[in-house]
Amino acid sequence: MNHLLDIQEQTILAVEKAATFIKSEIGKTSNSDIETKALNSLVTYVDKEAEKILVRELQKIMQDATFLTEENTIATTHGEWQWIIDPLDGTTNFIHQVPVFGISVGLKHKDEIVVGVVQELNRNELFYASKNNGAFLNANNIAVSSTTTLADSLIATGFPYYDFEHLDNYLSVFKYLMTSTRGIRRLGSAAIDLCFTACGRFDAFFEYSLSPWDVAAGAIILQEAGGKVSDFDGGNNWLHGRQMLASNALLSADLLQVIQARYK
Ligand code: IPD
Ligand code: CA
Ligand code: CA
Repeated sequence: MNHLLDIQEQTILAVEKAATFIKSEIGKTSNSDIETKALNSLVTYVDKEAEKILVRELQKIMQDATFLTEENTIATTHGEWQWIIDPLDGTTNFIHQVPVFGISVGLKHKDEIVVGVVQELNRNELFYASKNNGAFLNANNIAVSSTTTLADSLIATGFPYYDFEHLDNYLSVFKYLMTSTRGIRRLGSAAIDLCFTACGRFDAFFEYSLSPWDVAAGAIILQEAGGKVSDFDGGNNWLHGRQMLASNALLSADLLQVIQARYK
């Protein structure tokens, strides 16, 4: 078995442990459990505890790997190998019991994400991929859609909820796509948006103001499924650059044109 496949298998086991915990807490949080980190950025003990489980389990896989995690339960340090973790992507959905949320774990080697695992916790869908080994949903190989025109596409996005600086540009892209595609969806979890694009449910996904832990795992799952990720200029600064355009690759040139004409 190659090294990355071995790491992928162990990462899945770690994610499953955190998943068992989060599922046991669904519907149990009350208003007093909710902390507001920043405008509309919520967190509960469930996010923090799930992150601690992930860190504990992932540390057993690679002793020298460092961490970049959303809830800062472990200091961020940099190294050749780094786990990038969102213990609960879709926290607002989780709190409101809207059934779209999951766990996202990516592993970066130097400048490249090489393993990604995303578990959607309501449909029990496990998405995973590792570099050059393909992308999977519950053990079945997945591939992006073959849609070639925006007119036939279904697009996912995330609405800005704290950084309104680019709101007009965003709305201009949104308006264009609303009137030239089959429709636009906002699920509330960027990691799951990327995975749904990877398995062909969506044809593309775009959002700004995302953090590395929202996109690290989903990006490699999409790439291994044949998709393409970039920033809004078509460049590679999507992990830390807070801009994500993801697609089945066939629509990427058209979408870049739409975004570049409106997002200045
Ligand atoms: C959020 C989700 C959401 C996206 C936000 C993220 P969180 O993550 O991915 O879909 O629109 O930008 O912050 O806070 O639920 O982990
Ligand atoms: Ca997130
Ligand atoms: Ca989160």
